[in-house]
Amino acid sequence: MDEEQLHRIANLPKAELHLHFEGAAPPAFIRGLASERNVDLSSIFNPDGSYAYRDFVHFLSVYEAATSVLKTPQDFGRLCTAILEQAAENGVVYAESFISPDFCGGGDLGAWREYLHAIQEAADRAEADMGITLRGIVTCIRHFGPEQAKSAALCAAETAGDWITGFGMGGDENKGNQRDFAYSYDMAREAGLKLTTHAGEWRGPQEVREAVEELRVQRIGHGVRAIEDLAVVDMLIERDVTLEVCPGSNVFLGVYPKLSAHPIEKLRERGVPVTISTDDPPFFHTTMKQEYTNLAQCFGWDEEIFAQVNRTAMKAAFCDEDTRAKVLKKLETA
Ligand code: ADE
Ligand code: ZN
Repeated sequence: MDEEQLHRIANLPKAELHLHFEGAAPPAFIRGLASERNVDLSSIFNPDGSYAYRDFVHFLSVYEAATSVLKTPQDFGRLCTAILEQAAENGVVYAESFISPDFCGGGDLGAWREYLHAIQEAADRAEADMGITLRGIVTCIRHFGPEQAKSAALCAAETAGDWITGFGMGGDENKGNQRDFAYSYDMAREAGLKLTTHAGEWRGPQEVREAVEELRVQRIGHGVRAIEDLAVVDMLIERDVTLEVCPGSNVFLGVYPKLSAHPIEKLRERGVPVTISTDDPPFFHTTMKQEYTNLAQCFGWDEEIFAQVNRTAMKAAFCDEDTRAKVLKKLETA
């Protein structure tokens, strides 16, 4: 593929469905808040200023340490602006982000409303200034357990609407089971929210099946290890379950040794709806432009394939129909 085509691909308009709000925080932003608050966070940074961690479980604890300096609704509003500036620079025109009441007021509904208000205000300003649209997915944290998840689900249900449009779960996939969270997912579904959960990133295809059957999710975060059982792959196709694939994250965390070993192309070729996201871009040293460039170089994806992937993303987006139509038009006229 020539330089000119790669340049065009990197600059395509993009939809991104899987982006952790705190995980998108630039390290300099977190360091700035830490020094304002006199918190010593030096242990979570490398000498070059990037986040320092050894493996996935350590990543989760560094993530939580970084998040600990985000204290007020205003902090989250500022973070929202920083995230959307970066996304817009990468050509993202529509994003959905995982936001956790656990980090925004500790699961208290009154506090959550204040955090959400500040985030939404910043998102509205970014939409007016940069033409990027954001929607929120309230997210529980698996390793905090099913009881804590109920507080997150209540926050989700009480603030469900045009902006909070989904409920999800991140955290340590090796702790507990998807079905332990059925009560929270039922509450979210009854409030009209769309559903997603992290599955098939660390555990195998059975985890993906359990997520679809027990939590009745429309989308799966990662889901890539479904490829190890073609019956699960067929189930995803039959039920039109969309995968939020984050190739750079999977390679950086060692789920796959290199991009050429990643199953995204096999999944796409078989007919699984796949989309592209960054997960936690500064943690994994990636951006949406980088993801597109890498996929073009590794698998030969051209503009038509990326256009299809973006149509898949907008079909599976957890937004209202007016927003969907408006974003699709933006993606198509580019
Ligand atoms: N939280 C942030 N990033 C995550 C990931 N890749 N998997 C599970 N939980 C996460
Ligand atoms: Zn994730």
